[in-house]
Amino acid sequence: MTPKMTSIVRDEIAALAAYHVQDSAGMIKLDAMENPFGFPPHLRSQLGERLSYAAINRYPDAGADALKNAIRHAFNVPDNLDILLGNGSDEIIQLIAMALAKPNATLLSVEPAFVMFKMIATYCGIRYVGVPLTPDFEINIDATLSAIHTHQPAVIFLASPNNPTGNSFSVSTIDAIIQASPGLVVIDEAYFAFSSTSFMNEVSRYQNVVLMRTVSKLGLAGLRLGMLIGDKKWLGEFDKVRLPYNINVLTQVAATFALEHIADFTAQTNILIDERVKMAAELRLLFQDHADAKQFASEANFILFRLPASHPATNVFNQLRADNILVKNTSSGHPLLQNTLRLTIGAPSENSALIAALQNVLSPLTKAPS
Ligand SMILES: Cc1ncc(COP(=O)(O)O)c(C=O)c1O
Repeated sequence: MTPKMTSIVRDEIAALAAYHVQDSAGMIKLDAMENPFGFPPHLRSQLGERLSYAAINRYPDAGADALKNAIRHAFNVPDNLDILLGNGSDEIIQLIAMALAKPNATLLSVEPAFVMFKMIATYCGIRYVGVPLTPDFEINIDATLSAIHTHQPAVIFLASPNNPTGNSFSVSTIDAIIQASPGLVVIDEAYFAFSSTSFMNEVSRYQNVVLMRTVSKLGLAGLRLGMLIGDKKWLGEFDKVRLPYNINVLTQVAATFALEHIADFTAQTNILIDERVKMAAELRLLFQDHADAKQFASEANFILFRLPASHPATNVFNQLRADNILVKNTSSGHPLLQNTLRLTIGAPSENSALIAALQNVLSPLTKAPS
């Protein structure tokens, strides 16, 4: 930066590294929890037809009423709760942080968790506090309650299932946090489709809880659509900081159409859940002779895995990359994530390729001569 820039760019922004997206051209992409299947083929021409009539000469419907209706039906949103839409749930996190960033306000989360909680807190000038999870990635309830008591956070973000760990937190633990919280609690259900539990029907029991979801993990990541579900008193305040046309016309039309066919996306999700079970079994088999390898239970569309100490995660990551497979090296994200990789569940053939590549990494000597 030039001296002029240094004098005007906020110190905390100057200190940041930009969010890095790995180059993935031509690779088997198992790094970002995307759905591998693409738009259901039998719906593609209808989607094209709908999009061709979309009024892209006009600004979008600012209220996105048709889309909200489709969301309400597809996700069984209770009638007494409102819906606020964001350009991905990333934007929803930003709206909440912007609205609550009073001087000295705190945003609290657990760690490791979704990195954008901390990054967006920094962007918006709201203090961030992260409470470490236990080594098994459960919430350390004593430490969390104590941090709530000390920091009196304006907002707490809890992703359940959590990223990058994959586990869900128990309803009773979340309840204890809500009861102790002086401010708002946001339950982030980005991975709800892969999980057996949801907070959707609990939200109305509390004055200070809202629920966040996204269609990104359902096969619609490219549309950038996230949502906040909750009481209209809360949503009304966040709506004031939303830019008027944040959900573009093509996203509104495509997401409405997709959600009218939610069963097709649920079918894809169910394949991924089956694949997750198969991958967990394969990984267990692969690493059975390595007592220090550890696989963490997942309710999401990825598996977090601790490699044996004999196989540094960075080496394995690079070897997989040489085999054209991209996963996420989570090792440096947090001390609790030492020597871990996060493996997104892909299509069956992609998962088989990953297992075969890991097999080679583990036993290079048994590689067939070429
Ligand atoms: C827990 C969690 N919340 C939110 C998001 C962001 O989702 P979106 O694509 O809607 O911005 C992610 C993305 O990986 C996530 O893991």
